[in-house]
Amino acid sequence: MAQQTAQQIVEGQRQDWNRVAGGWEKWDRLFDQQMACLNHRLVADARLRSGMHVLDLGSGTGYPALLGAQTVGRSGSVTGMDLAEQMLAVARRKAAALGLANVTFRAGDVTTLPFEANSFDAVTSRFCLMFLPEIPKAGAEIARVLKPGGWLAVAVWSTPDKNPSIRISMEAINQVVELPPPDPAAPGIFRLAKPGDLAGMLQQAGLADVTEQEFLAEWSYASAEEYYTSLMEIAAPIQNLMATLSADQQQRVKQLILDAVSRFRRGDRITFPIAVRMVAARKPL
Ligand SMILES: C[S@@+](CC[C@H](N)C(=O)[O-])C[C@H]1O[C@@H](n2cnc3c(N)ncnc32)[C@H](O)[C@@H]1O
Repeated sequence: MAQQTAQQIVEGQRQDWNRVAGGWEKWDRLFDQQMACLNHRLVADARLRSGMHVLDLGSGTGYPALLGAQTVGRSGSVTGMDLAEQMLAVARRKAAALGLANVTFRAGDVTTLPFEANSFDAVTSRFCLMFLPEIPKAGAEIARVLKPGGWLAVAVWSTPDKNPSIRISMEAINQVVELPPPDPAAPGIFRLAKPGDLAGMLQQAGLADVTEQEFLAEWSYASAEEYYTSLMEIAAPIQNLMATLSADQQQRVKQLILDAVSRFRRGDRITFPIAVRMVAARKPL
């Protein structure tokens, strides 16, 4: 297959995430319950305080932008950016329900930030940067819009061996149809999983005091069926792979996934370990 241009990749991402926005809204409560700790960690790593002006990259349905807005309070503000208007529509509904008037969501590609240099006190981003075709360019943009001394805090997925809830579905698809070996440089869920990858790019972009830590946690589901259905409704990259299969192959993949997931039964729930790479860095004074 011919290699896609950066613009084509970004356009594909826009379509993918718009398509699954309804699933994100449907499963919001479950995922918020499971993943809220990551928002708190990002808010802490970005050193958010009352009155700060914050940029959140790839906010999707509002994470961690909404917690950021609660943290900086009415004298501060959060601007959330994302490619997918449908995801942002969900984020806006959630902000309104929470009564947050200090957060705005705007559509755009975070590789090219439409802001003046030194505009933001801090930048946050959860599970977005690995989907960019030009991560170093985004790093340079982050370094440009941060004020001197301002912190960036990022969460990306760590390696597949430590994230069975994601790996299982890919392995099941691979058992039914042989997927081409993943290009380690191509955008995707595990693009920034390797230790040092994102940290090195941020250093290259001129950021300092770079720290990186693997954050270990768990997430759990009421049943294997709940896991399967929610995965298929929110995980745009997995949906794309499934769409290439026949109905019979999809059924086989589903059975393989349900069998593999049953190994993670603990008590009356399915509980997976997860590993997230947390990277923080600061613009030099
Ligand atoms: C897995 S979702 C994460 C959303 C949210 N931050 C969260 O953690 O729930 C990835 C998000 O990144 C966005 N995204 C991907 N590439 C992007 C780009 N180049 N510019 C802006 N947003 C992008 C997608 O539209 C999607 O909403």
